[in-house]
Amino acid sequence: MTVLQNLKQKLSIQRRSLKVFLLIKTPKILLVFGLFWQTFIGVAGAQETIYRTEDIFHPVAAKNGMVSSQEELATRAGLEVLKEGGNAVDAAVTVGFTLAVTLPRAGNLGGGGFMLIHLDKTGETIAIDYREKAPLKATKNMFLDENGEVDRQKSMFSHLAVGVPGTVAGMAMVLEKYGTISLERALQPAIELAEKGFPVSQDFRRSLIFAKKRMQAYPASMEIFYKPDGEVYEVGEIFLQKDLAKSLKLIAKQGISAFYRGEIADKIVAEMQANGGLISKADLAAYKPVIRQPIKGNYRGYDIYSMPPPSSGGIHLVQMLNLLEKFSLRSLGHNTAQTLHLMTESMKLAYADRSKYLGDSDFVNVPISQLISKRYADILRRKINQNRATPSNKIAPGNPNIISESKETTHYSVIDKYGNAVANTYTLNFSYGTGITASGTGILLNNEMNDFVAKPGVPNAYGLIGGEFNAIQPQKRMLSSMTPTIVIKEDEPFLVTGSPGGSRIITTTLQLITNVIDHQMNIAQATNAFRVHHQWYPDRLQVENGLNGDTIRLLTDIGHEVVEVNAIGSTQSVMRIDGILYGASDPRRLGALTLGY
Ligand code: GLY
Repeated sequence: MTVLQNLKQKLSIQRRSLKVFLLIKTPKILLVFGLFWQTFIGVAGAQETIYRTEDIFHPVAAKNGMVSSQEELATRAGLEVLKEGGNAVDAAVTVGFTLAVTLPRAGNLGGGGFMLIHLDKTGETIAIDYREKAPLKATKNMFLDENGEVDRQKSMFSHLAVGVPGTVAGMAMVLEKYGTISLERALQPAIELAEKGFPVSQDFRRSLIFAKKRMQAYPASMEIFYKPDGEVYEVGEIFLQKDLAKSLKLIAKQGISAFYRGEIADKIVAEMQANGGLISKADLAAYKPVIRQPIKGNYRGYDIYSMPPPSSGGIHLVQMLNLLEKFSLRSLGHNTAQTLHLMTESMKLAYADRSKYLGDSDFVNVPISQLISKRYADILRRKINQNRATPSNKIAPGNPNIISESKETTHYSVIDKYGNAVANTYTLNFSYGTGITASGTGILLNNEMNDFVAKPGVPNAYGLIGGEFNAIQPQKRMLSSMTPTIVIKEDEPFLVTGSPGGSRIITTTLQLITNVIDHQMNIAQATNAFRVHHQWYPDRLQVENGLNGDTIRLLTDIGHEVVEVNAIGSTQSVMRIDGILYGASDPRRLGALTLGY
């Protein structure tokens, strides 16, 4: 055989074996390629979310302005301000004060929170931190008993649990800096509703039934929230708050000094001194809200703005979106086992990092830019097994430094006709906070000190594990999960959202965003869709009652311990698409309302 013949024969054999190889392997190659395409590439970018009249759930639609809040009277009060020509900040502050009267379990003067503001004029998005602070006399081990164990009664329901409140200072500051109406005008609906009362709703009555056990220890609270014989007000009965009306009027007249230095401050301090609390006149006088740089990320071309420390919300929202961005959630399908698996694994990694790296960045060095970097997400993503749940005990906080460099809280969202937007989440921590009313003020006090780590490694009330970064120090702000968020597209607010729900706030907000951007749901569909939550520890995937049973089985098959739970979160969202506003209140809790004009 010549050399040429030899070569031809060899090539022919190789061609034959290639043919046989392809015949056997083609389906497998196509399958692997298909899975790769579907998982990583698929529909690369999200399309414009379209509202279809054929959809099952329908948003509220309007042209000019919109308010979405947890309580009807507060939504109406905010909308009235918008109709009068006020801007989104004016409406947001009005809603904030009104909720302190009409949704007293979470709306507050005696708590704190976070507000995100987008200003159309400058294109800026600004984060306002009015989170509570630890009093000057607070100490690291103040919630440990003589055996070194955490005393939860102390950290949750005593006068020691109260952080220095920030709401009044925060609301007044944003109104002065970015609003157009007076403090008196912003307080007017709250004053009227406290003084003249409002009919008790079913939601309010239920929350009072739940809170009675806690409030029973505090006569000043019982006098306000229950009838003289201790009975709960019936639906439709008029609920008055005379002391609160007096406090609100003092603030309207004297400004925040009434709360932080004047008559109200005196009463809060007297309440503390009589009951072993720590808040002093010096604490109140020193309280200042802070303007911070928001956390900024980008997800499939949309800019995501959210809350920086002392909230963990923005960092971990962006971190999870970064992890998910390389998976095509759209083609994997909404709430399919594969999509939920990838989301769950991302949640575990983010919450593991939260346990180690998050705290008040005025006190500890939070590696913010590393945690939200795409490069760090690329490294972390390698830890995700796409076919199997990784047990939480096999996951530890990552090392971002290798890169150089509760029916309790409440959220509301506003967009005005000028193109400004506000996302605000604030709280007393638990429903009705400590249950303590500062005598003579009508003001319920928060139990936010419980959001500090009382003892590293011991889970807090939400089951979250934290470390030294979130230890108690005087004047420090306790770590939060609140995640008020504004998504910007082509320099304009596209979606304003957020939720209550303790540790589940961040994952609730995540799902709202992926429902809109990946799954192209209208905002009502995105709100109604079933939710899930995982927070690293406990190693359990919480799924809302009603999630498809087959999906749960598939998730269990790949190693997730799935538990069915009641409703997760309560988003209040507004979107703007092609100049039209669309909004939706969450049906998970009674009484919420979105209105536009
Ligand atoms: N108190 C709940 C939070 O701030 O996350």
